[in-house]
Amino acid sequence: MSDVIDRSTTERSPADRRPGSLPDLDLASVEIPAQTFFQIAPPTQLAETLRLRLTEQCYLPKASDPLKDWIARVACPAFQNYRRRRPLAAERLERFCTIGTGAGLDALVAAEILRPGLIAVTDLHRDVVDQAMSNILANLETPERLILRSGVGDLLAPFQNSQLRFDLIYENLPNIPLPDGVSLDDGQASSSFIAARGESVPALAQSYLMDLHYAFLLQAHRFLNPDGAVLCSIGGRLPLQAMLQTFAAAGYDAEIILYSWKIQSEPDEVITGYAEAQQAGHGPFHFYLAEDLAAFFAKQPEITGNAGAEVLEKQLRPKQIDAATALTLHRQGKTIGHTVAVIEGRPKKAA
Ligand SMILES: C[S@@+](CC[C@H](N)C(=O)[O-])C[C@H]1O[C@@H](n2cnc3c(N)ncnc32)[C@H](O)[C@@H]1O
Repeated sequence: MSDVIDRSTTERSPADRRPGSLPDLDLASVEIPAQTFFQIAPPTQLAETLRLRLTEQCYLPKASDPLKDWIARVACPAFQNYRRRRPLAAERLERFCTIGTGAGLDALVAAEILRPGLIAVTDLHRDVVDQAMSNILANLETPERLILRSGVGDLLAPFQNSQLRFDLIYENLPNIPLPDGVSLDDGQASSSFIAARGESVPALAQSYLMDLHYAFLLQAHRFLNPDGAVLCSIGGRLPLQAMLQTFAAAGYDAEIILYSWKIQSEPDEVITGYAEAQQAGHGPFHFYLAEDLAAFFAKQPEITGNAGAEVLEKQLRPKQIDAATALTLHRQGKTIGHTVAVIEGRPKKAA
């Protein structure tokens, strides 16, 4: 398995009816064996080996190492936990949306685990969304059974004029302020960085760089069905309390449905971004040596719930390193990791 297999059209068997490359796009591709990569039962909705094609601006799935991959480490177990914790809601789940889909892998895993009848995907870039749609269709066993919708643009703005309402909206949006001289259109910049925004964001959320999650939460209210929920995937370089209070400020009851860890992907730009933000007065942010996280979580039973996650966060505190130290250790060749939290938010009911 390798992250990037080729940048050309691959040889295909006559039986392979997956869509080929889009015209005028520089396509790379990755292959992912679904069952082993996601550690799931043999897939029933997906091809055994997922073949995803990527454009320049598309977030790269970390096909060579599931410990670095957001979908393998975070989205897939979070969807499984959602099913276990909310069996009725999961059974009734008809309409699923993912904001900032990248390669479309989150939508594919949602199709396997949550089995909605409709999936909507968005991202900031036209080519990313078009390619995600091709990837989704190409890797489903029976694509005709799924209604697919897509939109290009900021958060839920693409669906502003539609009647679409969702049972579950997922996001794994970036946090770090866009550095000077970098554009969100440059390569994968929009996967790690966010541009300055217009919303008024509570001070705590702002200080921990939760601006885009908060903006998403504000918008999501009007796109949820009456019993609908959001799932936000958040790199835990900030205190869990800051995340939970951001949800409360946006009008949600929040419950941590996954508290886990992953290896920091894109470590140069991401750790540098947090170190610079910390220097500028944000945070403080924390990381860990990946070996410490691996050893700690290997001993833990699966934990969900706010109280359980906060106990783990406290137990891990002696191993925390701040962003500047993490950058130094990364430059010395150490593998850096961070915790992750997936938070289920349900709009607060009026008393
Ligand atoms: C970290 S990547 C996650 C990709 C994929 N969802 C996953 O979990 O692997 C973040 C994605 O969000 C997209 N994104 C960033 N800002 C966005 C915004 N304001 N609205 C919609 N999508 C955005 C990026 O282009 C990128 O594809």
